[in-house]
Amino acid sequence: MNRAATMMNAHETDILHDRRIALGVTGGIAAFKVAGLVTALRKRGAQVRVIMTEAATWFVTPTSFATLSGNEVGLEMFGGTLRDELQHVHMQDFAEVLLIAPATADIIGKIAHGLADDLLSTTVMALTCPVVLAPAMNVHMWQNPIVQRNVAMLRELGYGFVMPEAGRLASGAEGEGRLAGTDFLLAAVERALQGALPRYDLQGKTIVVSAGPTREPLDPVRFVSNRSTGRMGYALAAEAERRGAEVILISGPTELPAPPGVDVRPVTTNAEMKQAVLAAMPNASAFVSAAAPADYRPAQVHDRKIKKGEKLVLDLEQTDDILLAVGEQARPSVLVGFAAETGDAVAQARPKLARKNLDVLVVNDVAEAGSGFGVDTNRVTILRRDGSESALPLMSKHAVAAAILDEIAPLIS
Ligand code: CTP
Repeated sequence: MNRAATMMNAHETDILHDRRIALGVTGGIAAFKVAGLVTALRKRGAQVRVIMTEAATWFVTPTSFATLSGNEVGLEMFGGTLRDELQHVHMQDFAEVLLIAPATADIIGKIAHGLADDLLSTTVMALTCPVVLAPAMNVHMWQNPIVQRNVAMLRELGYGFVMPEAGRLASGAEGEGRLAGTDFLLAAVERALQGALPRYDLQGKTIVVSAGPTREPLDPVRFVSNRSTGRMGYALAAEAERRGAEVILISGPTELPAPPGVDVRPVTTNAEMKQAVLAAMPNASAFVSAAAPADYRPAQVHDRKIKKGEKLVLDLEQTDDILLAVGEQARPSVLVGFAAETGDAVAQARPKLARKNLDVLVVNDVAEAGSGFGVDTNRVTILRRDGSESALPLMSKHAVAAAILDEIAPLIS
C-alpha cells in the first residue's frame, strides 16, 4: 500500500489526523460497505485497526481490510494470524474510539449481556474508550423486542448508536435495517473523539435549512452567482433528519442528491429563496441559514441573449439579506447564521451576531485549506449570543453539522 498516496489529503489540523480508530466488523451483508469507511478514515490521516468476527469473514476477506487499513486484521482470540493472545488488551492502548459496523443482533446481544467469547466481544469488555455501534440487519430482526431492549440497555450504559436507515434491504424487503451511510459513520467517529455520541433529540421539531448559491439572471443564458456547492447545508439537513426533525431544505441550484426524508424546495434566485424561507417560517423551530444567496443581481435582465461585440456594462443592484429579513419579520426560536470570511475571520464575523440577531454564528475562513467551497471538510468557530466561542478542529461537514445541532437542540423551545 502506498502510504504517501493514502495520506495525500491528510491535514494536520484534522480531528482524525493520527488518531487511532478501532473498527469492529461483524457478519452482515453490509460488511463490504465499511471498506469505503476505512479508506475515508485513512485519507484523513487516521490509523485504523480492524477486528473481524468469524461470520464477517464470510462476507469480506480479511485481506481486503488488511490492505485498506495498512494493518493486520484481528480475527481470533487464540492461534489466529496475529499470534498474540493479548490482542484485546493491547487494543485498550491503541483505540481512542471503537466503531462496530455493521453491528449484528448477535454482537449487540453479546455486549448487552457481558458475553466475551471471541476477539471482538472480549475487546469490547476490555475497552474504556467510547464505543459506537452501527446496527444493520433484516427489518424483522431489528424490530424484534429483544434486539430493541438490548439497544436501549446499551444506550443507557453510554454506548453510542448510529441507527440504521429505512430502505431496500439485501433480502429485497423494504424497511428499517440498512447500515447508515459512510458520512454518518464517519461523523459519529469524529464526534466520539470529541466526547459527543450520536443524538436523537429533534423529534417533533421543524428545522428549516437554506443551502447553496442563488443565480441572478443577466440574460436567458447567463447569470451572476458564487462558488457555494451546498454541501454544508445538505449535511445539516441530513443530520437533522437523522435526529428526528421534520426538515425543510430550501436549496439553490446544486449537484447534490436530495437527502432522504427531507422536504427539498428548489429555488433559483435570491428573491425566490427569500419567499420560500419566509413561507416555511410559521412552523419552524429553527432556521439555519447555510446558503450563500447572491448579494447583488443585474439591475437589468435582458430578455434576449446579449451578443458578442455589444457594449456591455454590468450594473448590479443589491439583493435582500434573507437572514436579516427572517430575524426582523418571522423569527423562529433559534436563528443560526454562517459567515464565510477571509483574513481574521472571527473578528470580522463577530458583529454579524448582533446585527442579524442570531443565537449562533458559524464562522469559517474560506481561504484556509480544507475549509470553504467544494470540499467535504470544514474548520469552523462557533460564536454564541452570550459572547462565548468554540474553535472546532477540521472535520467532515457532517461532523460540523452534528456539532452545530448539538448547539441548537437545547435552545429550541
Ligand atoms: N445571507 C442571507 N442573505 C444574503 C446574504 C447572506 O441570508 N443576501 C446569510 C447567509 O446565509 C449567512 C449570513 O447571512 O448565514 C452571513 O452572510 P455574509 O455574506 O457573510 O454576511 P453579510 O452580512 O452579507 O456580510 P458581508 O459584508 O461580509 O458580505
